[in-house]
Amino acid sequence: MATPINDFVKAYSKSGTVRFHMPGHKGAEFHGLEPLDITEINGADYLYDADGIIGQSESQTAKAFGTAATLFCTEGSSLCIKTMLGLVKLSSKAQRPVILAPRNVHKAFIDACILLDLDVRWLYPQTPTTSICCADITPAQFEKALSEDGIDAVYVTSPDYLGNLADIRAISQICKAHSIPLLVDNAHGAYTAFLKDSLHPIALGADMCCDSAHKTLPCYTGTAYLHISQSANAAFAQDAKRVMSLFGSTSPSYLLLQSLDLCGDMLASGEFSKQLESAVSRVADCKQKLEKQGWQLCGSEPMKITVCAAKCGYDGKVLADMLRCGGIEPEYSDVQFVVLMAGVSNTQADFDRLAAVLGSIPIKPPIDSDLPPVLPTTRQMPIRQAALQKGVSVDDALGRICALSVTACQPSVPVVVSGELITQDVVKILKRYSIFSVNVL
Ligand SMILES: Cc1ncc(COP(=O)(O)O)c(C=O)c1O
Repeated sequence: MATPINDFVKAYSKSGTVRFHMPGHKGAEFHGLEPLDITEINGADYLYDADGIIGQSESQTAKAFGTAATLFCTEGSSLCIKTMLGLVKLSSKAQRPVILAPRNVHKAFIDACILLDLDVRWLYPQTPTTSICCADITPAQFEKALSEDGIDAVYVTSPDYLGNLADIRAISQICKAHSIPLLVDNAHGAYTAFLKDSLHPIALGADMCCDSAHKTLPCYTGTAYLHISQSANAAFAQDAKRVMSLFGSTSPSYLLLQSLDLCGDMLASGEFSKQLESAVSRVADCKQKLEKQGWQLCGSEPMKITVCAAKCGYDGKVLADMLRCGGIEPEYSDVQFVVLMAGVSNTQADFDRLAAVLGSIPIKPPIDSDLPPVLPTTRQMPIRQAALQKGVSVDDALGRICALSVTACQPSVPVVVSGELITQDVVKILKRYSIFSVNVL
């Protein structure tokens, strides 16, 4: 167990060395963390050519996750997603590789398609959903889609924003049988590697996945991992740093690297797994209490509590405000749901407060959230070709082709993707997510 990045930075900050290098604060305290905020000085290694302290820390973390390689990232899963897809592009012979994906992708996926000129074959649930956040696709649907030619990779978002987990084990077996790499957006599931029975995509057979360390581990915002499995195409691990640097800043934050370094030590020591075990049981107890109070919950992710607000008589936005009045800030809300994300640092008192506040709110008859189902759209042209056009009001966009994909700030799942036709239903969903302007061709 080791914390090489922290050790180096601490020693440097105490050394009295005169800083004639970036950053401009020179280590003088202003916000408070400046003494520990350095750049790639002598001995501090390079994120994109890591063979020193960063490389050592990454190796320790890779061991903890059981991967062939784990890359630190200081620009979130957003950068890791672009990297995974960049690696697919690099390994594919196709001019415009095609990715098979359920429709509930994060916007970083669409951004990558624009930047890399990728095409997508979307999968939609057999029973249409009214939430853009989820897409319950059966393994049989993947099998059927992969029996057709022309797919270069499969990309799955799991867990989704509402806490639904895809059957990664079954999907990975299908992908392996077709020799197609499986990429997983596991932004919400870094912690799943440390459950008693791992639910982490790499353990379940994925070739690559991204984890936002900051979402579920005790890490600073912006920290993430790109994991590559032992059984993946060896070229992925070889080329990963080069491809990540294509999209990343040349000035990675050492504060974030220190955070990843400390966390890696905690993961490797088994301390996080211990804390997680207790936290999972606190969440399970709390879910049980809420269900006894009459609240309907959904999602199977062990550390997320998703309240089906509309089914219990509330617009999720209104219910979120009621929680705020009780001193609780949720992760996300929309007309149908309120999502609460728990972490190992949430105490029993936190869960007691949640149960007390929700317990004081009467359950009412379900309300109709008036959202049309998310149905297959009409694709008129490749994503990249459509992307960079002018903005108009949503009403004027009816019948036109979407240019830049449109997402609400949260959950950042696109309602309409570049190159698709904007129908009346799309206009309705955009307005429900408070989106009033859209770029069209
Ligand atoms: C499902 C999903 N994927 C990817 C991301 C991007 O992660 P990051 O914020 O770490 O860049 C998010 C962010 O919320 C997300 O919800």
